[in-house]
Amino acid sequence: MTRRTLHIISCMIVGGALLLAAWMMVAAPAPAFGQGDPPPDRNNGYCFVCHAQPDQAYTLPDGTTLDITIDPAALAGSVHGDSNPVRALGCVNCHGDITYPHLDLPPADARSYRVRAAAACATCHTDQAADLADGVHYTALASGDLRAATCVDCHGSHAIQPPDESREHISTTCGTCHQIAFAEYRQSVHGEALFAGDPNVPTCVDCHGVHGIQHPTTALFRNRSPELCATCHADDALMKEYGISTNVFNSYLTDFHGATVQLFEQQDPNVATNKAVCFDCHGVHDIARADDNKGRVVRENLLETCQQCHPDASSNFPASWVGHYEPTTDEYPLLFAVNTFYLILIPGVLGGFALLIGSDIYRRIRQRRQG
Ligand code: HEC
Ligand code: HEC
Ligand code: HEC
Ligand code: HEC
Ligand code: HEC
Ligand code: HEC
Ligand code: HEC
Ligand code: HEC
Ligand code: HEC
Repeated sequence: MTRRTLHIISCMIVGGALLLAAWMMVAAPAPAFGQGDPPPDRNNGYCFVCHAQPDQAYTLPDGTTLDITIDPAALAGSVHGDSNPVRALGCVNCHGDITYPHLDLPPADARSYRVRAAAACATCHTDQAADLADGVHYTALASGDLRAATCVDCHGSHAIQPPDESREHISTTCGTCHQIAFAEYRQSVHGEALFAGDPNVPTCVDCHGVHGIQHPTTALFRNRSPELCATCHADDALMKEYGISTNVFNSYLTDFHGATVQLFEQQDPNVATNKAVCFDCHGVHDIARADDNKGRVVRENLLETCQQCHPDASSNFPASWVGHYEPTTDEYPLLFAVNTFYLILIPGVLGGFALLIGSDIYRRIRQRRQG
């Protein structure tokens, strides 16, 4: 064999292998693939021939455009990317086994396109889809309100990142649509701490849930809300870090407002109560520190807060309420003195009466025996 024939043969082997590899990339079918299943065969090379070309736009019938350039690096760096082979998805896993020309025409506008495309996520993430199905967003979508959040609005499509990384990102995402709630929350004691990196304050989903969000304006949500606040505010170890009293929950329950709400929560959770829950006094998204001048429970604003439900309350009305604190010599000296006085007086009086009655009975018995 001459060197020349050897060269030709090796070229044929290498060329053949390259052709075979190219054919496999283009033609390999993508098997059905679920969460936890082995990786699919990817044939993204076929789609990228066109979709990796820069600056391509496709105009939809209503004039909105789709940016049809897909950045291979964004997909590779996503939770579905191939930096981790187990997580690698092919285009066809979400878009179906399509070829060019694409026959399935996109809907008239970009919003409808997104809502339709998001249905692909549910094929694998069945648990999340099931939770969403009876939540506020998918109920709204099902009734034709296309503004409600789809998987893609909260997670993205090609560049999806782990959803719990950076907790403030969660609240910012909800804020893209719920701008008023977000703006209030951002200024609140919880929101300010979140954006300063505090891991212990609630984000939107700690109070509302994630995929199965229910309407928060129901009697059930209201009756249960003190327990929601209590998950953190009755946690001694947590609140100690901030020097915040955890007596707020117990004192609330022994208070006339709290005692009634708790009774409803236990017996008729779906029946509304008119007694105050935590957020009637503290606010919902705009909760402030107890000594914040803008807050609702600071002394200057407290009367107005009570007047929501006690319209005839006068300026000394809030003072008739000891708040969350058990009276002590420091906090409410007069009340403390009165409490202590009664603590001594009542057993003293009752004891005195018992002694008096007892000695009277003894005297009568003795008189009868003698008489
Ligand atoms: C030969 C070039 C070419 C190839 C190959 C190609 N596309 Fe496309 N794609 C286009 C063009 C052009 C459009 C703009 C709409 C149209 O002309 O149908 C488009 C639009 C799309 C759209 C958005 C509109 C729609 O119809 O949903 C998706 C999604 C899409 N392609 C996915 C894919 C996937 C997945 C693959 C690989 C399986 C692929 N494409 C392969 C050229 C291509
Ligand atoms: C995890 C599922 C998923 C994978 C994998 C995926 N897509 Fe998409 N794709 C979507 C969703 C969802 C949309 C709708 C996005 C939107 O409306 O913002 C979309 C939209 C598109 C569009 C329309 C333009 C746009 O961004 O809205 C094109 C083109 C497209 N995809 C091509 C591809 C190609 C090519 C691949 C593979 C390299 C791919 N996709 C992989 C889910 C996926
Ligand atoms: C073909 C199946 C498949 C489809 C379709 C799919 N995913 Fe995934 N997804 C997976 C797999 C597998 C993982 C990695 C395993 C895991 O963490 O559950 C994953 C991971 C994720 C994660 C990260 C989970 C975590 O705990 O960090 C998110 C978020 C996610 N997918 C959202 C989506 C969204 C949104 C869509 C639609 C645009 C989508 N997925 C479409 C299979 C799929
Ligand atoms: C309203 C916004 C929102 C919508 C809509 C949404 N998600 Fe999520 N999702 C989140 C948030 C926020 C998290 C992170 C929760 C956490 O870690 O506390 C999350 C977590 C996840 C996870 C990680 C595992 C888990 O359950 O915590 C997956 C997977 C996921 N979502 C997939 C989906 C899919 C698929 C859809 C659509 C069927 C969807 N999500 C719709 C906001 C959303
Ligand atoms: C793409 C926009 C969008 C995003 C993102 C979004 N939502 Fe919504 N949300 C809506 C729409 C639209 C409704 C339906 C309003 C209605 O039914 O009146 C809704 C309803 C709600 C409701 C019920 C409101 C009511 O009046 O009873 C709550 C609570 C809620 N969303 C919380 C969240 C949280 C928490 C997040 C983030 C994890 C989030 N949303 C992300 C658009 C969005
Ligand atoms: C500390 C708990 C808590 C946090 C954190 C929280 N919410 Fe709420 N949210 C509530 C309660 C309680 C209600 C019901 C208020 C009522 O009945 O008037 C509510 C009501 C709502 C409503 C429906 C009524 C309205 O005001 O439109 C939406 C939408 C909403 N929240 C979105 C959000 C978003 C978005 C975030 C994050 C930026 C968030 N919430 C953070 C407790 C919370
Ligand atoms: C996920 C835990 C968590 C939940 C749920 C929660 N909080 Fe908080 N809250 C905190 C933390 C942590 C702080 C301290 C923040 C700081 O000082 O920077 C705080 C601070 C406060 C303060 C300010 C106290 C002060 O004067 O310094 C009030 C008032 C408050 N929360 C009320 C509520 C109410 C009312 C609810 C229920 C609607 C609630 N919180 C739900 C964790 C939580
Ligand atoms: C009737 C109105 C009212 C209700 C209901 C109420 N609070 Fe308060 N809260 C106040 C007032 C007023 C203060 C200011 C301090 C004080 O005098 O007690 C306060 C103070 C606080 C503080 C700050 C304590 C500190 O150490 O600085 C927290 C935290 C708090 N409340 C949480 C709650 C929680 C949680 C609930 C429900 C379980 C609740 N509050 C119910 C009126 C109320
Ligand atoms: C969300 C409504 C609501 C708010 C806000 C509220 N209360 Fe009440 N409160 C009630 C209801 C309802 C009763 C029961 C009234 C009745 O049966 O006559 C009650 C009863 C009381 C009582 C028992 C005596 C009485 O009048 O029956 C006192 C004292 C009281 N509240 C103080 C306060 C103070 C102080 C504040 C402000 C810090 C406040 N409340 C805020 C709803 C509220």
